Amino acid sequence: MRTNPVLPIIAFLAIIFSIGIFKTQTALASHPVADSEQAKTAAQEFKNIQVLKDIPADQLIPTMQFIAASLGVECDFCHVQGAFDKDDKKPKLRARQMMDMMFAINKDTFHGHRVVTCYSCHRGNMHPVGTPMVASAEMSESTQQESQLVKAPSAPSADSLIDKYVQSLGGAAAIEKVKSFAARGTIEMGPGRSVPIDIYDKDPSMRISYMHMPQGDSITAFNGHEGWLAFPHGPVRDMHGPDIDAASMDADLHFATHLQQMFSSAKVEGTEKVDDHDTYVVIGQREGKTPLTLYFDQQSGLLVRLYRLGETALGQLPTQIDYADYREVNGVKVPYQWTLARPNGRFTIKLNELQQNVPIDDAKFVKPARPQEAERMPDHH
Ligand code: HEC
Ligand code: HEC
Repeated sequence: MRTNPVLPIIAFLAIIFSIGIFKTQTALASHPVADSEQAKTAAQEFKNIQVLKDIPADQLIPTMQFIAASLGVECDFCHVQGAFDKDDKKPKLRARQMMDMMFAINKDTFHGHRVVTCYSCHRGNMHPVGTPMVASAEMSESTQQESQLVKAPSAPSADSLIDKYVQSLGGAAAIEKVKSFAARGTIEMGPGRSVPIDIYDKDPSMRISYMHMPQGDSITAFNGHEGWLAFPHGPVRDMHGPDIDAASMDADLHFATHLQQMFSSAKVEGTEKVDDHDTYVVIGQREGKTPLTLYFDQQSGLLVRLYRLGETALGQLPTQIDYADYREVNGVKVPYQWTLARPNGRFTIKLNELQQNVPIDDAKFVKPARPQEAERMPDHH
């Protein structure tokens, strides 16, 4: 661990949370305060937008992440460092043409539905492959690992599976009694990249976590409607569109008992193996939002995987969370471990201790008004 461990972690978190580190200084300067901005378009917020002019400004960075994930490249494949508006790199110009092509294909051939995306052709590669591959031993193994959803006509109903989930956690009454928790553990972002983390969560849907890095704390927070990240000695970064939806779910202490009202409809898709769990796969539709896919352990009834999609202008970005090590705290089962994976990275949080219904000051969840230096955590140190 001779290299500075902080920079990769910041870059990593920026990717994981769609953070606009990449906004120009001017953009930051013109929005020094967390204004509750009217839904601005990308063209209003950024300097050189020619194709994605009318998309909501806060979808631009997630859309860029979608492109990067679809092509398997980093931002600098198309962008000059520190000057994202510049058109100096050929692939950026090419990407604009590709967007026009994608829109035209969908308009002309798929009744305007977004069926074909960058990923349909690129599949994580710069150069799409037009010729089918010959069979190889490796290939048949890797195709076997793809989704193994099996239809299950005699599976229980989605409603009863959600019900069983609530029961197996400890029942609705016990879950509703949980009003807060304070937890400590570690976050692992890869070999040798593990740091201590403290997490505070308070009803309704407020969560803040402090990653204790050598240089200071890196903070991820959600206050019920806005999310932000603060890095040691750096300004505060906003969470963007799809990540707000995600953060509000992750912070919800009563997520299990809210599922029924969250879904306009839910149905069982079949069964699937998740690690060594046999699961029922339930897809829940949400009014005006992307659906959620829930994987319930057939034996215990517990949620072992959650799969969700973040909407961007060009396609959807997936997030998968695997829950493990459920332990009972005051009659409610809580996962002490979860792994969050996105196309560009994954991390695992492992808790060592968790206390429920501890008093947590609301002041903890107030978004800093301007770029601030990260502070050490005042309590517990
Ligand atoms: C394959 C090429 C490509 C990749 C990779 C890519 N971008 Fe872009 N980016 C573009 C194009 C093209 C535009 C202009 C879109 C338009 O004109 O509608 C753009 C515009 C932007 C802008 C607006 C700049 C301005 O002020 O006009 C930002 C910010 C940005 N990208 C950030 C990113 C980030 C962050 C990443 C990595 C997650 C990324 N981009 C990856 C092609 C790319
Ligand atoms: C219908 C298939 C298809 C779709 C959809 C598609 N591409 Fe492409 N793309 C290609 C092909 C084919 C090439 C040429 C690859 C080569 O040169 O080997 C290419 C090349 C590119 C290149 C140039 C790569 C280089 O080597 O410089 C970029 C950048 C690119 N695509 C971005 C995108 C983006 C962004 C999207 C989504 C908005 C997209 N593409 C959607 C097929 C597609």
